[in-house]
Amino acid sequence: MNETFREKLYQQAKEWVVEAGTTIREKINDPLTISTKSDRNDLVTTMDKDTEYFFMTNIKRTYPDHFIISEEGYGDELQSLGGTVWIIDPIDGTMNFVHQKRNFAISVGIYQDGIGEIGLIYDVMADELYSAKRGEGAFKNNMALSPLPEQKSLYDSILGLNHFWLCENRLVEEKVIQELVRTVRGSRTFGSAALEFAYVAEGIMDGYMTMGLAPWDIAAGIVIVNETRGRTTDAFGGSLNLLQKSSVLTCNPAIQEQIVNEYMIKGRK
Ligand code: IPD
Ligand code: CA
Ligand code: CA
Ligand code: CA
Repeated sequence: MNETFREKLYQQAKEWVVEAGTTIREKINDPLTISTKSDRNDLVTTMDKDTEYFFMTNIKRTYPDHFIISEEGYGDELQSLGGTVWIIDPIDGTMNFVHQKRNFAISVGIYQDGIGEIGLIYDVMADELYSAKRGEGAFKNNMALSPLPEQKSLYDSILGLNHFWLCENRLVEEKVIQELVRTVRGSRTFGSAALEFAYVAEGIMDGYMTMGLAPWDIAAGIVIVNETRGRTTDAFGGSLNLLQKSSVLTCNPAIQEQIVNEYMIKGRK
């Protein structure tokens, strides 16, 4: 992707993200139509769908040769990441959106032939836009984010985890997760994977690990975290495939190998 086009795409994507976020903010107290998907806690609202529709129509009208991967059904069915692919979560943190009316984000990653070129994560109610272009650093609104510290001990780290670590699974049976939680300084659960990636990029959380995330949860986050020296893999250190669901670990590289080797891989055996 040439630089001039990438800059144009970045400005355009940013404009749409802010426009979509402004609409959500304006309608935040309107009555919601809420439905459930795979189970009673898997929520979707008309706002999720309308926001995705807004992106889809704008993208298809302006860039008819671009592809879309997205959560709520308006995207394309892709077998490869060839070409320019927009990977969109119209509202990441729908449960927060419904119950808290805050702590949710719009997440848009733009990939060219599988390479993350642009990442945008918009914390709608805080009006904070995390953004990055590959190779050009990451920003929170207009402020450049600093590279993550080169030295970081796991003992002094805050890790984002979620409640699945309290449910039955092999890693819990092997007491691996309990050991990891005891080792780190603290753990947090925010309920929006995209925002948790943004916090890792910002250095206010040192890592975020979870099971079963979809491409739209992480596509923008990967680009932004990369730009502050962070590393993203699956929870066992393997590479990610953005055409499928996967476990995810995004963190400061100084603690990545320790989490993978001393905890996750040990627990999987
Ligand atoms: C969810 C959020 C949540 C994560 C779930 C995701 P959604 O996305 O990111 O934090 O734990 O796995 O599905 O459904 O609110 O877009
Ligand atoms: Ca969802
Ligand atoms: Ca999501
Ligand atoms: Ca969503």
